[in-house]
Amino acid sequence: MVDYYKYRVYPFNVEQFSMALAVKNLPVFLLVLLLPLLAFCDEKQVYIVYLGEHSGVKTFTEIEENHYSYLFSVKKTVEDAKSSLIYSYKSSINGFAALLTPDEASKLSEIEEVVSVLRSHPTKYSLQTTRSWEFAGLQEGSKGFQLKENLLMKSSYGKNIIVGMLDSGVWPESKSFSDEGMGPYPSSWKGICQSGDAFNSSNCNKKIIGARYYIKGYEAYYGSLNRTLDYRSPRDKDGHGSHTASTVGGRRVHNVSALGGFARGTASGGAPLVRLAIYKVCWAIPGQGKENGNTCMTEDMLAAMDDAIADGVDVLSISIVTRDPVPYNEDGIAIGALHAIKKNIVVACSAGNLGPAPATLSNVAPWIITVGASSIDRIFLAPVVLGNGMKIEGQSVTPYKLEKKMYPLVYAAQIVNPDVSKDISGQCLPGSLSPKAAKGKIVLCLRGNGTREGKGWEVKRAGGIGFILGNSKANGAEIVASAHFLPAAAVNYEYALKILDYINSTKTPMAYIAPATTELDSKPAPFMAVFTSRGPSRISPHILKPDITAPGLNILAAWSEASSPTKLNQDHRVVKYNILSGTSMSCPHIGATSALLKAIHPSWSSAAIRSALMTSAELINNLGKPITDASGKPADPFQYGSGHFKPMKAADPGLVYDASYTDYLLFLCSIGVKNLDSSFKCPIKSPSPSNLNYPSLAIPKLNGTITVVRSVTNVGSSKSVYFVKVKSPSGFSVMVSPSILFFKHVGEKKRFTVTIKASSVNTGMEKDKYAFGWYTWFDGIHNVRSPIAVSVA
Ligand SMILES: *[C@@H]1O[C@H](CO)[C@@H](O)[C@H](O)[C@H]1NC(C)=O
Ligand SMILES: *[C@@H]1O[C@H](CO)[C@@H](O)[C@H](O)[C@H]1NC(C)=O
Ligand SMILES: *[C@@H]1O[C@H](CO)[C@@H](O)[C@H](O)[C@H]1NC(C)=O
Ligand SMILES: *[C@@H]1O[C@H](CO)[C@@H](O)[C@H](O)[C@H]1NC(C)=O
Ligand SMILES: *[C@@H]1O[C@H](CO)[C@@H](O)[C@H](O)[C@H]1NC(C)=O
Repeated sequence: MVDYYKYRVYPFNVEQFSMALAVKNLPVFLLVLLLPLLAFCDEKQVYIVYLGEHSGVKTFTEIEENHYSYLFSVKKTVEDAKSSLIYSYKSSINGFAALLTPDEASKLSEIEEVVSVLRSHPTKYSLQTTRSWEFAGLQEGSKGFQLKENLLMKSSYGKNIIVGMLDSGVWPESKSFSDEGMGPYPSSWKGICQSGDAFNSSNCNKKIIGARYYIKGYEAYYGSLNRTLDYRSPRDKDGHGSHTASTVGGRRVHNVSALGGFARGTASGGAPLVRLAIYKVCWAIPGQGKENGNTCMTEDMLAAMDDAIADGVDVLSISIVTRDPVPYNEDGIAIGALHAIKKNIVVACSAGNLGPAPATLSNVAPWIITVGASSIDRIFLAPVVLGNGMKIEGQSVTPYKLEKKMYPLVYAAQIVNPDVSKDISGQCLPGSLSPKAAKGKIVLCLRGNGTREGKGWEVKRAGGIGFILGNSKANGAEIVASAHFLPAAAVNYEYALKILDYINSTKTPMAYIAPATTELDSKPAPFMAVFTSRGPSRISPHILKPDITAPGLNILAAWSEASSPTKLNQDHRVVKYNILSGTSMSCPHIGATSALLKAIHPSWSSAAIRSALMTSAELINNLGKPITDASGKPADPFQYGSGHFKPMKAADPGLVYDASYTDYLLFLCSIGVKNLDSSFKCPIKSPSPSNLNYPSLAIPKLNGTITVVRSVTNVGSSKSVYFVKVKSPSGFSVMVSPSILFFKHVGEKKRFTVTIKASSVNTGMEKDKYAFGWYTWFDGIHNVRSPIAVSVA
């Protein structure tokens, strides 16, 4: 039995700093969450009773009766048992969610058939384009784009593929979701279009082919939905769900831009003809601003995934992360995804926005594609001119402009109210600035606590005329664009220091912020976003995670017209497109690419699709140098996994590392999780977890030597010869045997071993410090690369 605080989608407008802080100060944070719980300790709350697989053929009625029988065994009356059931998971997942007392839950967890009992929790699971697809070489007109050979054409733009989105719903009127010219959807589709507030079957079409909402778990915890906060229907009042759905499958819409005309261009999802199935599982949190994110309850998500599997989706894209790492048998997304994988559905999930601290990843199950976030080559240049003539590179997407002249400049800490504590005085937190002192000035604020948008609002509230947002050291060069309420520019850490120096150097500091313009081909790109969560995986360090990185910084996509670009209460602006950042934005890039790959290779397993994405990923930026982090230091596989996605190459990977549903169950046996699928019996001697046929390799705490087994399947040309190339992690030797693989036909599998040995020189190597390398199979056309991460015991 487990406490379950996990599910919150983190919005990336909340500073990663305060996130990192929340993690560090976990006891405090937990306390806050626990308060409402302690209050009702003896009262009922929602638990999920997970029973694994359905055994034999049973009707839905029989399944439900079976679920009730568990409840009858712990409840005093039949009525009580009946009224306590919240969901009965009947399609693929076997289990139910019910209101139970801790005592009843504990009795149920002792029943043999019960795999696990998890307590649901309102986790502050806050939910956490144009250029990104061109940047990935996947849009007509982009560099390296060849119509004949291209992935979009070969995949018919994904028209026969259905992608399920678990998120905050959809704004169906967005042009991105038009079905103009689209043919009938695949006859395999069994989903529905569920009516509710401001949403009925007319809102579904040949693009949005299904829409449902899941709110029972939410309402069991928060009480009935406040319908001024959210729609009790699949309609999106937040924006996040419309953004992710249009990133996956938005139509090509010409001449769209964010507020103020930024990022103008043709907006398109990665798979513009793919069909979308909307599963709304995330809702506004009562009493909290939407900028703090949404909440998504485990039992609601499981119900959505159970339906999505039965409805017939091909891909699931889930930009939702768990709060703390939990074992797989207690992780709702991992359990739902395992059932999806059994039906060969590809599941892509966000890695989380808790970077740059190490070991902050979510969604690390090896049957999930875990997606990190990086930049694209587009910036929004808004130069800041200082009184001494110095011109500083700033970025902005605010629609407001200053009249061209110099304005007095101040550092926020110089104009705060007397009660503001010194360590946060430069951060423009709500209510901190003195209106008398701020009036008519450009105010420099630093990142740290609070939201970026909130800082801009504070300057405006205090009567400031312009706003410069300076990065803290940890933010480095990563600029996250926001649609502020006043003329604004965001600057990197180095420039923030320069501006501070200038302010110190003169009695009358002055500045001007020039209007912003959208600039393409900025270099270097990609670089890793500061916020992207990092490996190693705390749950299974034997699997290298994340798997891959994709664009997640300043991404333009569709928005809800019932929301505002900043989601702040004070903001009443309505936009059709908005710029957002987070691994929530990178995950749908991989969801879309998986859909295209599935269209081209319908027989491939989800492991094969992931392998193709990973082994073809790139390590080089647009300067021809290794991909860096936001501070310019080389990034490593705990940030980008196998590298930056390269959709065109992924369609023809040469070789794939395949894995079946059974392989994942064997992996679970090897780490002591014996019963996620109750129909499967673990062998007496479990394989080593390192032997899961994964396209990357992580060896934690190596003591001497290890040999792992891998197998590759030829999906390239019938007769081919592959040679191995190795870059050993420093302090280790790596030997691949055999070093040449001969293939005679397509579909042929070859086994090989990788032996890693700690060399005697690295006895001084720090414990838990990882070294990185790779091995690559190449045949003159394909480079099939696998990263290696290894640490010593
Ligand atoms: C859906 O709602 C719209 C607007 O209220 C209405 O015009 C339309 O007739 C409804 N469609 C159906 C199928 O109920
Ligand atoms: C619903 O939310 C609105 C907006 O936050 C608030 O003003 C109102 O009091 C809430 N209603 C209830 C019943 O809580
Ligand atoms: C794009 O839209 C803008 C403003 O909405 C308009 O001024 C401009 O003429 C449009 N450009 C094209 C090529 O349609
Ligand atoms: C955030 O606020 C807390 C509490 O005032 C403070 O201790 C901490 O240093 C601040 N963090 C940053 C990054 O400024
Ligand atoms: C600016 O001056 C203040 C006070 O004299 C000092 O504490 C601060 O470190 C200086 N800042 C910079 C960036 O030089």
